[in-house]
Amino acid sequence: MTDKDMNWGKFVKVEFEDRIAWVILNRPEKRNAMSPAMNAEMLQVVNTLATDDRCGVLVLTGAGDSFAAGMDLKEYFRETDEAPDTTLLNVRRIAEEWQWRRLRDYPKPTIAMVNGWCFGGAFTPLVACDLAIAAEEAVLGMSEVNWGIIPAGNVTKAAIEAMGYRDALYYAMTGENFTGKQAAAMGLVNEAVPLARLRERTRELAKILLEKNPTVLRGIKTAVKRCRYMDWEVSADYLYAKSAESIQLGGGVHRKQAMKGFLDDKTYRPGLETFKPGEPSD
Ligand code: COA
Repeated sequence: MTDKDMNWGKFVKVEFEDRIAWVILNRPEKRNAMSPAMNAEMLQVVNTLATDDRCGVLVLTGAGDSFAAGMDLKEYFRETDEAPDTTLLNVRRIAEEWQWRRLRDYPKPTIAMVNGWCFGGAFTPLVACDLAIAAEEAVLGMSEVNWGIIPAGNVTKAAIEAMGYRDALYYAMTGENFTGKQAAAMGLVNEAVPLARLRERTRELAKILLEKNPTVLRGIKTAVKRCRYMDWEVSADYLYAKSAESIQLGGGVHRKQAMKGFLDDKTYRPGLETFKPGEPSD
């Protein structure tokens, strides 16, 4: 790591590297199982990084040999089983707030880097991230059926959002494990690479995203997520409105420069190269 590394709490670590914020679930001795205390820290971390300039892309991963072994069975479940409704709801609310509400609508690009064990509740932040890369060797599973529970905490929703219908049903119903390589074949992650290359490949992808116009990227990812649940008429209207918003918010200069570079100056061909802000110039 080349920039300042920080402990943002007891259970989460953040490392900054060239505008990539590596957010690390940091409880390796418990396979990064997500406890209420970790969830509270994560909520604070994602909130803080949303407006921290050192974070241009957020990468979510886990310390040691695990991404996350799901929700903490002792602290998240057993110890709250007898808690009053209000306590229980608060514990759940904090978990879902970072695991899908904030992450799904995060103002910056997000990548889940699945470095190892990934079970149950971990599917929710995995799918809430925009993109995902897994180690081929990683082991994933919706193990809830083996615990006598259904994949809640929005795990079922996450699975059906990213996996095919048959695969989502198969793995939720059997609780069978699968590898990172299989996860890529099913579309649960974008790609799988050998563990030894995982960080390097994730860094490469983050750098590609860092070269894009952040305002336009925000509009694109929001549009993909929203349009999925709209009909064609509503989607067409929404996209024109969203496009106008993006132009007004900061995409407009980029658009103008790109048009000039291509149509007038003949210095820029977007089909062949990436636009770098400021090039071609007015
Ligand atoms: N909740 C609470 N504690 C957990 C946990 C979880 N989800 N997953 C692992 N841990 C704890 C273990 O209890 C153990 O604690 P201890 O050292 O105090 O006994 C520690 O993490 C190490 O786990 P261990 O099982 O010894 O590690 P392993 O490397 O042999 O196996 C897993 C790793 C992930 C395969 C195994 O821990 C496991 O099956 N975990 C449960 C996964 C799961 O079903 N999660 C979904 C919950 S809905």
